[in-house]
Formats: sequence, structure tokens, C-alpha cells
Amino acid sequence: MNITYPRHAPKKPLGQITRGKTARNRLRPVDNFFLKYDPGLLTRCDGDFAKALFVDLGYGAEAVTTLETASRLRRLNPGLGILGIEIEADRVARALPFADERTFFRLGGFNIPLLPGEYVRAIRAFNVLRQYEEADVLPAWAQMARGVLPGGLLVEGTSNPFGSILAANVLRRVDDESAPWRPEALVFYTNFRLGFDPAEFQTILPKNYIHRVVAGETIYNFFEAWKASAAESAPVRTFGLRPWFVASAEGLSRRGYRVRMQKKWLNRGWLVWEHL
Ligand SMILES: C[S@@+](CC[C@H](N)C(=O)[O-])C[C@H]1O[C@@H](n2cnc3c(N)ncnc32)[C@H](O)[C@@H]1O
Repeated sequence: MNITYPRHAPKKPLGQITRGKTARNRLRPVDNFFLKYDPGLLTRCDGDFAKALFVDLGYGAEAVTTLETASRLRRLNPGLGILGIEIEADRVARALPFADERTFFRLGGFNIPLLPGEYVRAIRAFNVLRQYEEADVLPAWAQMARGVLPGGLLVEGTSNPFGSILAANVLRRVDDESAPWRPEALVFYTNFRLGFDPAEFQTILPKNYIHRVVAGETIYNFFEAWKASAAESAPVRTFGLRPWFVASAEGLSRRGYRVRMQKKWLNRGWLVWEHL
């Protein structure tokens, strides 16, 4: 991915105000994802990481998900600084009473407002870009890269209203200002309350994929393969949805897709496709 952007961040928040719908515990799976996928990133304290923040960009009408994230991630790193960003001023005002010495709320956009000496170790941007156009995605990712330390993560995705299924891009910050993100994985999660059907995930794909499930596209081929794997392993369903989900991942793996096969992912409803 080659993205270039001006060296100096514009001060005006970049982006647009969108619907602020959120829900308690909606993003719990995303918190768990960070804890499982790269716990070392949340605890790193070498160099600029010592004071590097976890950013929740676009937390919505209320700051519930940011505050929940703060308490979950601080079980691992009690000193972790968390910064909630919203582009809508009233939503910032409503969140400010919940700020403390390690939890901050600021008005801002994709050009994350940082104070001198502040850096970012990870960004969660969930259910934000879904309300934008597909063409806005790469410029938004490029803006969000500013201030993120090399090795940092952007997890950008979409869920259904209660967070029972989700899909997200996982991008790693690299030390290259002209191509700051290396796509690492596309991840899917279900808590199985909706059953299991690969097609369900198509409805909540991140913006860069949702209009691309058409013949000839990589994401289309992936879903065809996942559906075929699920169909051929359907007899496993009699043992439960989870074993069926695991069997479908084995089918994907046999078809040459690089999916993480560890139980800690699959048994808990995570399909981590390392697609690049
Ligand atoms: C649907 S809510 C998502 C809330 C929460 N992240 C969740 O998943 O439950 C999207 C929020 O993102 C905010 N937003 C949209 N674009 C933004 C941007 N460029 N920077 C910061 N916030 C933004 C909107 O104002 C809205 O409140």
C-alpha cells in the first residue's frame, strides 16, 4: 500500500460527524483481540512507548466502550494511557466528566490530536469508516498513521449492533512514511449467538471490502472457499457450532488460506486470516 500525505497535520479535525450509535460491551471482543493478538504491544515501555497511548477513535454518543476498554486493558497494564477521540463536540463534552489522569477525551478526527511528546501504540476505530465512502478509507488510514510508533497497530472494522459478529483489518505501523501500514490480517469473530454462516460476515465487512465481494476479487474467492469449507464440514455441526467453525477453518487451510489454527483463536470464535 502506497500512501503519501502532507508532512504537517492539519489542525481541523478530519472527517465527518456520523451517527453515534454504540452499546455497552459491544466492543468487548475487540478488547480481547488486542489482549490475545499482541499483549506485548500493550505493555511495551521502551523509549517513546513509555508514554504511548491507546486511542479509541470515534467512540460514539457515549464513552462506554472507551471506558470499558480502559478497564480491560489495564488488567494487563495498569498504567496504560487511553485517549478517546470524537469529532462531535457534544459527545466529547459528555465524556469529559469520566476523564482521569490516564483517561483522556479530545475533540478530533483521523488526524489524531496529540500533545507534544505524546505517541500512539494502538488505535481502535470501530464502526467509524462504515459510514464513509470506500474512497475515504486509504486517506483516513494514512492520517491515523501519524504519531503511531513503528510496531503499533490499527484495528479498524465493523460489528453488528451488539458486537456478536465483527470483522476488522489489522494493520501494523512500519517505519516508512510513504507506506506507513503493513496489512497483517483480516479477522472475523462470532460469539455464535447468530449461529454460524460465513455469509453473515459479508454483511459487516470493513468498508474497503464490503463492496468488493464480486467475482474476480480476492475477498470474493475467500468467501466462496469459506462457504465451501463450511458446507463440506456440515456433518460436524451435530457436535456444535464451534467444532463446525473449527472444521471450516481447517477446510480453508487445506485450500491454501493462511488462517491461524491455534485453539485459542478458533475455539473462541476467531478466524484470523493472514492474507498478505
Ligand atoms: C457508530 S459510532 C461508533 C461508536 C463506537 N466506536 C462503537 O463501535 O460502538 C461512530 C462515531 O464515530 C465518530 N466519527 C466519525 N468520523 C470520525 C472521525 N474522523 N474522527 C473521530 N470520530 C469520528 C462519529 O461522530 C460517531 O460518533
